Amino acid sequence: MTTLDTRLDAAIAPPRLDAIDHLELWVGNARQAAAFFASVLGFDVVAYAGPETGRADRASYLLEQGTARILVTGALHPASAIAAHVRAHGDGVHDVAFTVPDARAAFATAVRRGATPVWDPWLEEDEWGSVTRAIVAAYGDTVHTFVERDGYRGVYTPGYEPAQLSRPAGSPVGLEGFDHVVANVEGGRLEHWVSWYRSVLGLDELTHFDEEQISTGYSALRSTVVWNHGRVVLPINEPAPGLRTSQIQEYLDFYGSPGVQHIALRTSDIIATVRALRARGLRFLDVPPTYYDEARQRLAGVDLAWDALTELGILVDRDESGHLLQIFTEGITDRPTLFLEIIQREGARGFGEGNFKALFEAIEREQARRGNL
Ligand code: FE2
Repeated sequence: MTTLDTRLDAAIAPPRLDAIDHLELWVGNARQAAAFFASVLGFDVVAYAGPETGRADRASYLLEQGTARILVTGALHPASAIAAHVRAHGDGVHDVAFTVPDARAAFATAVRRGATPVWDPWLEEDEWGSVTRAIVAAYGDTVHTFVERDGYRGVYTPGYEPAQLSRPAGSPVGLEGFDHVVANVEGGRLEHWVSWYRSVLGLDELTHFDEEQISTGYSALRSTVVWNHGRVVLPINEPAPGLRTSQIQEYLDFYGSPGVQHIALRTSDIIATVRALRARGLRFLDVPPTYYDEARQRLAGVDLAWDALTELGILVDRDESGHLLQIFTEGITDRPTLFLEIIQREGARGFGEGNFKALFEAIEREQARRGNL
């Protein structure tokens, strides 16, 4: 590409991303993964696609809670790309999909601005309308699908029918949508991916932390958050040298490539949400008891239900615009890769930097139990 071409490409406006449309996990057994998200996390199983709906090679279940949509897909044949993904990575997020006003334009401009095309735009229609999609490559084997729904009125996209699985019992959980989706990339690749999101998707840097802020006695990481000034918020982590193996490196070793490390989901009542999730059997990282002595000082002057927070193991942090409450699950897959975060924001726009040390020490206790620290 000549210098002139580069200048021309940079002059093309980046694609407009409206939201995270859905996350798609490629898993070993979609039916059981769907049951986990339904019974343990309180998602509704809304839609299904598989051989019965004309897709011979895979089974997919769409889970919804608030505006968060998670699709779990499993392969029906050994030669499937889904089976190969599961063999390489274990269960994991394959697609961080964005809702866009124009999928063809988003794909064309992303590719002009440097994205690797995976699937050219295609349109599917049924009696409920049409959906246009296109796919570009992201970090590792992860992709970004651009989804143009154009007022589609069906349950999800053409090819899906309402799911027949019944809603399991349990208190409502109250998750409202995605807050952020975090990637782990190899050491030395953070800057590359930040500049990829800047130049290809037009995202801006929201914040950056380095190992001075995010380290414990043992392991360290660097993190930059890119976002669209709206609901698309994508932190990216890379491992930094520490005394022992960084938890980001443990992820990379077990996932076998860069990939999604955690999915953060919003609630406006984290105490009720975590109570319901614990009752449903979801397991969270333990918080050292001394954490709350330190947190009460750090959050002095903020009126909080400290007894409930302590009982439930919820972490607290503050920044110049407010405070936030958050909690992290144990890994939700067999490999020590993917986990979830529940977050309630009361003004704060950060990611719990003040909690990182307390959190990472808790993660490292788990890492040491697996013999990987
Ligand atoms: Fe997070």
